[in-house]
Amino acid sequence: MSPFVLSRTLPLDATAAALRADVTEGLTRSPKELPPKWFYDARGSELFDEITLLPEYYPTRAEREILIDRADAVAAATGARTLVELGSGSSDKTRHLIGALPSLAFYVPVDVSESALTGAAETLLAEHPALTVHALVADFQYGLTLPDVPGPRLIAFLGGTIGNLLPSERATFLAGIRSGLAPGDALLLGTDLVKDESVLVPAYDDSRGVTAAFNKNVLAVINRELGADFDPGDFEHVALWDARREWIEMRLRARRPVVAKIPALDLAVHFEAGEELRTEVSAKFRHDGVREELAAAGLELTHWWTDRQGRFALSLSVPV
Ligand code: SAH
Ligand code: AVI
Repeated sequence: MSPFVLSRTLPLDATAAALRADVTEGLTRSPKELPPKWFYDARGSELFDEITLLPEYYPTRAEREILIDRADAVAAATGARTLVELGSGSSDKTRHLIGALPSLAFYVPVDVSESALTGAAETLLAEHPALTVHALVADFQYGLTLPDVPGPRLIAFLGGTIGNLLPSERATFLAGIRSGLAPGDALLLGTDLVKDESVLVPAYDDSRGVTAAFNKNVLAVINRELGADFDPGDFEHVALWDARREWIEMRLRARRPVVAKIPALDLAVHFEAGEELRTEVSAKFRHDGVREELAAAGLELTHWWTDRQGRFALSLSVPV
């Protein structure tokens, strides 16, 4: 087998159909809403990577600190031959894990962003020439079928991306992961933790405006893919903390009345001045909540590690 294979469980026409369905449904309902996966075309993936370097955006640095400190403990607890990573992006932090897993032979990064997958594989293979990388363009929420790879398998879902799913979506997602796990397999999950609003909000509304550009990138995706005529300048980036639901919400707020045409859908979308489109939730977690959500899916939390400032947690869980 060649050391690098890229396959799709997400045919291009299925992606196009899913975007059409999400835009039709999400922009004609009230309040308006779109799933966050549409941020991540090649430009969106680049902007996310820029976000991870911002002084205000602490989650990447906090999780990297844990991975560096605890990679050996993860290795001791799993003995994985295959590492499957969901929403792998640049795989940059994953390198700390790959270097520490002594029996690792296969790495299966899974992402909707093909550009992120190919970029990551190039860097990784240069560092680990003996590793077989089978990259998968797939949606981790729907119909994920993994290639036939040897166990034990470690499934990594890093970055706090689980927080971008709504609670009901998280339950379905975790149950799906659990149903694919065999004895000896494990889940390594990154979760950002609840903290003061004064730290959380700037992480999603940085002073250089990179997060604003990332948020507005969804409009560029709709313009390109569906021939729409959104003007990003008509919208303001909004990040707010919902203390009851313990999540950050990103929204795009119309600065003035907007009518956008979406020819591919034969649709005109109207925004009143001040009307908002929710583009992302980013839930923040507590230890007990993570343990309970895992348990509800049939997973037992065996390890819980945080960074030294207690901002972010990495947990290991196994099928019950
Ligand atoms: N894990 C990396 C990247 C996080 S950014 C890190 O910790 O830095 C979130 C990643 O998940 C992006 O690369 C995005 O393309 C991917 N993603 C988002 N929704 C997805 C979905 N439904 N299915 C597969 N990948 C998805
Ligand atoms: C990928 N995900 C965990 C990021 C987050 O923090 O929720 C996406 C992001 N949105 C704005 N900034 C970063």
